[in-house]
Amino acid sequence: MDCEEDLFCGLNYADKDPDEMDVLEKKHTPVIDVESLGEDRYRVTVKVGEYKEHPNEHNHFIESIELYSGRTFLGRATFASARSDPVATFEVKLDHKHPFVAFERCNMHGTWRSEEVELG
Ligand SMILES: [Fe+2]
Repeated sequence: MDCEEDLFCGLNYADKDPDEMDVLEKKHTPVIDVESLGEDRYRVTVKVGEYKEHPNEHNHFIESIELYSGRTFLGRATFASARSDPVATFEVKLDHKHPFVAFERCNMHGTWRSEEVELG
């Protein structure tokens, strides 16, 4: 198997409209919602399974979600299998306007990247 066929080799990214995604892409692509709180503060919610619900079982689940602004790490949430839904809300204060981007890790299907979301 070469790297392009291996979900665990590199970063998976569905750079397309959700209507054009396949089932795997719909289940894994993180979706970012941003609410401005004023004075450079933001409430950012990242959800996996927005387009199609991802399984949440002991042998197949979302292990973590990470949030960045550009290359600046902002936070990480880790989840228990079966008991924690893969959604995380971060409240952050930024001194720059780099777009938000999120990553999630599935124990069976590797790491997936969201679309970039510009700061409002
Ligand atoms: Fe998965």
